[in-house]
Amino acid sequence: MPTVLVTGANRGLGLAFARQYRADGWDVIATCRDPATAPDLAATGAEVHPLDVTDDAAIQALGQTLASRPLDVLINNAGIYPAKGPQGSFGNVPVDPWIDCLRTNVIAPWKMAETFVDHLLKAERPVLATISSKMGSIGDAASPGSVIYRSSKTAVNRVVKSLAIELGPRGIICLSLHPGWVLTDMGGPNAWVTPETSITGLRRLIAQATPADSGRFYAYDGQEIPW
Ligand SMILES: NC(=O)c1ccc[n+]([C@@H]2O[C@H](COP(=O)([O-])OP(=O)(O)OC[C@H]3O[C@@H](n4cnc5c(N)ncnc54)[C@H](OP(=O)(O)O)[C@@H]3O)[C@@H](O)[C@H]2O)c1
Repeated sequence: MPTVLVTGANRGLGLAFARQYRADGWDVIATCRDPATAPDLAATGAEVHPLDVTDDAAIQALGQTLASRPLDVLINNAGIYPAKGPQGSFGNVPVDPWIDCLRTNVIAPWKMAETFVDHLLKAERPVLATISSKMGSIGDAASPGSVIYRSSKTAVNRVVKSLAIELGPRGIICLSLHPGWVLTDMGGPNAWVTPETSITGLRRLIAQATPADSGRFYAYDGQEIPW
């Protein structure tokens, strides 16, 4: 059975990834900050490891723990959205949450790739998928606000492009994926896509991706998004 590793899998989209891949019979390596408080994740039957993605030493230690394991899919899912709404509006944007956001949403996906590249290279058609957001698109930008989150997703899109350039020649397909506006803690109650629908679409994209898709930005419904 293929193996997927997903970060931030204790709730929201990460949990939905773990559930769906397990239901399909995959081996799921799921990480979260505190497995002791993640009963829903434990119930999926995934193999759970503690990981704060901003802790580079912990990423490397997990890489060592899983050293012999091939990874068919690595999903950089963990993310934060600090200073939503008026807290993050022009004239009012806080610095430390911005730095935290860059560490979580931008630097961690790169460090995960550096650490797990050898695991991915053990698989036949490895895919490195990073959950970005249309809110980071420059080509599609029209709305104000949320500069912390938006700029982090813009930056991680460039990270994915760089990974595609670095790792494409080695056979790793690198995707930037927008899940839609999804009903999770982050998406809030007004979102209109269920986690199940979003993850069904994202899993389809991951399953069907070819090297020609590497370094590209897709929504869960298959639409390509301008950078
Ligand atoms: N929901 C949407 O509408 C939407 C839209 C576009 C993109 N996205 C992206 O989709 C991804 C998942 O979002 P979601 O909606 O599932 O959000 P969520 O419900 O807020 O869940 C976020 C997950 O990330 C984890 N996380 C945050 N910081 C972490 C860290 N330092 N180390 C490890 N895990 C960490 C959280 O763990 P804790 O429980 O420990 O905090 C949680 O499991 C994010 O990258 C997000 O930006 C979501």
